[in-house]
Amino acid sequence: MEKKLRVGTIGLGMGSAHVRGFQSHPNAEVVAVADANEERLNQKGKELGVPSLYLDAEEMLKKEKLDVVSVATPNKFHKPLVLAALKAGCHVLCEKPMAMNAKEAKDMLAAAKKAKKRLMINFSYRFAEQSQAMKKQVETGILGEVYFARSVWHRRRGMPGFGGWFGQKALSGGGPLIDLGVHRLDLALWLMNYPKPTWVMASAYDHIASAIAKREKKAFDVEDIAVAMIKFENGASLELEASWAANIKERELMETRLMGTKGGLLQKNLDEGYNFDAEFFLESEGCQFDMKLHPPVPGCKGSYHHFIESISTNKPHIATGEEGLIVMEILDAIYESAATNAPVKIG
Ligand SMILES: NC(=O)c1ccc[n+]([C@@H]2O[C@H](COP(=O)([O-])OP(=O)(O)OC[C@H]3O[C@@H](n4cnc5c(N)ncnc54)[C@H](O)[C@@H]3O)[C@@H](O)[C@H]2O)c1
Repeated sequence: MEKKLRVGTIGLGMGSAHVRGFQSHPNAEVVAVADANEERLNQKGKELGVPSLYLDAEEMLKKEKLDVVSVATPNKFHKPLVLAALKAGCHVLCEKPMAMNAKEAKDMLAAAKKAKKRLMINFSYRFAEQSQAMKKQVETGILGEVYFARSVWHRRRGMPGFGGWFGQKALSGGGPLIDLGVHRLDLALWLMNYPKPTWVMASAYDHIASAIAKREKKAFDVEDIAVAMIKFENGASLELEASWAANIKERELMETRLMGTKGGLLQKNLDEGYNFDAEFFLESEGCQFDMKLHPPVPGCKGSYHHFIESISTNKPHIATGEEGLIVMEILDAIYESAATNAPVKIG
């Protein structure tokens, strides 16, 4: 039997899902995990049945001779840990956002190229079976030419780990845009075939969460909503909106909408939760039709499975570092446009 890939995961919040995902592939063995929080390390390590536990990720990289490493720490640590894992000769799956900004993302991509190792970004929403089915349909040309898209993720009140690292710019790089917005941005860009971005015009506000933070004496110095219009070289445009605190009806609202010359597409969440509906809107012989995707959808087993499968079969993976960098370039431009109240050119 082929030798199993030795996998290690760093950071055991979201990283616990990484471990379970890798464990679902017969060609992967999660041999070690690292987390700087001893209590979490011991509890999660035991729960997940991982043999070797490390408080220091660098020590894990030195001792374990890993083939694959995944990084799921606060955003500030993505770059140094990805560089260390590449230096240790590992393929790397890095959580979204790829980095704090595009400069860091560029350095990470250059390091992966130099090391001749893979760098994948965990844009996990692409790997939902429904998203994969939508992409396949879009690739048949059902939408014609996509000229406008709108992708949003809003929360009425939903600051993750309020008072913790998510709301501190020095640790996160930003607020809901870099946290939730990246998912909806990547999904729309992926469905649109990652067109080249050219201009961004954006605004960001912090009226609601900042006031709550002040009242509750919690650290918070990022936006609570960001909105942007992104223009592309091919003439298409994308409206992106992301919030942790907005005065809307829904607890949680996620929508990605594409409009094309032949058809439209809408994926939206149901009952303010994490289940989604996907529908295509078409015109044929002068009549308008709606085509709804009905689960179950055969196929994709998630990003972790995909990464291991791609390495094992020597095939390219999706959600590449190159795409992660484009997302970071757009985010940088959005934050700059919001700060300067002016349009920002990319590239
Ligand atoms: N793809 C998704 O759907 C998704 C969902 C949630 C979070 N995330 C991303 O995952 C990352 C982690 O988020 P989270 O919600 O798990 O945060 P978290 O705070 O719950 O967990 C982060 C863990 O990393 C550990 N850690 C911090 N620095 C470390 C270091 N240098 N070495 C080892 N361990 C370290 C902490 O002790 C903590 O246990 C973020 O980048 C976030 O954006 C992605």
